[in-house]
Amino acid sequence: MASSLVVLISLVACAALASGAAGARVELTRAHSSRHVGDALRRDMHRHSAWRLATSGDTVSAPTMKDPANLGEYLMTLAIGTPPRSYPAIADTGSDLIWTQCAPCSDQCFQQPTPLYNPASSTTFSPATCDTSPGNLCSYNYTYGLGWTAGILGLETFTFGGSSPANPTRVPGIAFGCSNASSDNWSGSSGLVGLGRGSLSLVTQLGADKFSYCLTPFQDTNSTSTLLLGPSASLNGRGVGSTPFVTSPAQALTHYYVNLTGISLGTTALSIPADAFALNDTDGTGGIIIDSGTTFTYMVDAAYQQVRAAVLSLVTTLPTTDASATTGLDLCFALPSSTSAPPAMPSMTLHFDGADMVLPADSYMILDAGLWCLAMQTNIPGLPSILGNYQQQNMHILYDVGQQTLSFAPANCGTF
Ligand SMILES: *[C@@H]1O[C@H](CO)[C@@H](O)[C@H](O)[C@H]1NC(C)=O
Ligand SMILES: *[C@@H]1O[C@H](CO)[C@@H](O)[C@H](O)[C@H]1NC(C)=O
Ligand SMILES: *[C@@H]1O[C@H](CO)[C@@H](O)[C@H](O)[C@H]1NC(C)=O
Ligand SMILES: *[C@@H]1O[C@H](CO)[C@@H](O)[C@H](O)[C@H]1NC(C)=O
Ligand SMILES: *[C@@H]1O[C@H](CO)[C@@H](O)[C@H](O)[C@H]1NC(C)=O
Ligand SMILES: *[C@@H]1O[C@H](CO)[C@@H](O)[C@H](O)[C@H]1NC(C)=O
Repeated sequence: MASSLVVLISLVACAALASGAAGARVELTRAHSSRHVGDALRRDMHRHSAWRLATSGDTVSAPTMKDPANLGEYLMTLAIGTPPRSYPAIADTGSDLIWTQCAPCSDQCFQQPTPLYNPASSTTFSPATCDTSPGNLCSYNYTYGLGWTAGILGLETFTFGGSSPANPTRVPGIAFGCSNASSDNWSGSSGLVGLGRGSLSLVTQLGADKFSYCLTPFQDTNSTSTLLLGPSASLNGRGVGSTPFVTSPAQALTHYYVNLTGISLGTTALSIPADAFALNDTDGTGGIIIDSGTTFTYMVDAAYQQVRAAVLSLVTTLPTTDASATTGLDLCFALPSSTSAPPAMPSMTLHFDGADMVLPADSYMILDAGLWCLAMQTNIPGLPSILGNYQQQNMHILYDVGQQTLSFAPANCGTF
């Protein structure tokens, strides 16, 4: 998105707080170059898919849950090939490519929880072709911050939940990445599913004009919710707020930008410059995106410092402690014991253009083993601010790509 350097964060998994395990912090930032890969593939690739959810009136669905090791990602179950093979993939609205690891795989594949998909054992696989590349194979190396995945693009039939569980929907000709080399562990997944705005994303390939999800509570790795793509994805009734998406600049077509105009803690409006989250549509810098694949929210420093100071001023009974090495977070308080309850905190309100998003304390503070931390961080220079999945838990969220609005309402996502 920015005109040079590394550009955006897609996935951040922060293991330490969530699991209590040692601080494996996996931060994945997509580099500028990968966008060119995506654009070039789109221009160059030959594929035929007449499937359009928007016109067929169908809806497809996929079960979604927190990753079992509690590493900070939400996993969506996809089924690839014929016969269909199920696998968990990180649900990422911050990127486009759909990928899984393919057999044969040498030592450059990571350990995954399901058997490897083997294109040779599926009757519906075909390689995608690209005119400009040797042998006409479309190869890619998609880079996410501290991670990457590489392979060739293929076309496959994917099977989704349909209108009823007994009635699955099979969609042929979906372009996906067949990876045979990747950086290490992807949060116990077997790949990733891009739900961004770009042409290779699942949303775009299905022709879905809207989709919705409800992220189960962050610490709950047992419950499942349903991600819906198509007309049945809807959100109505009392308590629903809607805000328009901000037009993505050419440099950042993948992302869902929103218009955040202020933040309050309790009833106090924080003194954050009015343009702190503004997107510069000349060069694509700044702005704030909503991303299911990033764990903790990143905020432009001018805003983050205000939030940090406001939280600090309210917590008068606990000492701060430096736990940044294990948590990656820079404001943590030490509780008297690992079983102590933290003090009550007011909710935090994100004032979007046209709607307020209210975050209860459990959606902006994270508690683990006697540490209680602000689950937000200052952003990485050159990257947009990012509304992460920790802040989206227990909220029903609808991305209406047709109407260009984001809608949201509080929900108990673990009990659907
Ligand atoms: C993909 O790109 C990453 C970072 O840009 C690099 O470290 C890695 O070696 C590349 N992988 C392949 C297979 O080219
Ligand atoms: C991955 O597949 C590509 C294309 O077939 C091949 O050139 C490359 O050597 C393979 N890499 C590994 C690590 O197997
Ligand atoms: C990789 O993920 C598995 C869970 O699928 C986990 O048991 C293992 O420890 C992870 N390895 C690394 C190096 O993170
Ligand atoms: C999740 O399931 C496991 C095993 O079935 C159970 O021991 C655990 O208490 C459950 N956790 C929650 C939060 O429901
Ligand atoms: C937006 O970007 C352009 C080009 O980099 C720059 O000249 C301009 O000052 C920026 N606008 C703001 C409000 O920062
Ligand atoms: C953001 O919202 C504010 C307040 O509603 C409005 O004045 C401004 O024009 C909006 N900005 C964009 C880029 O839509």
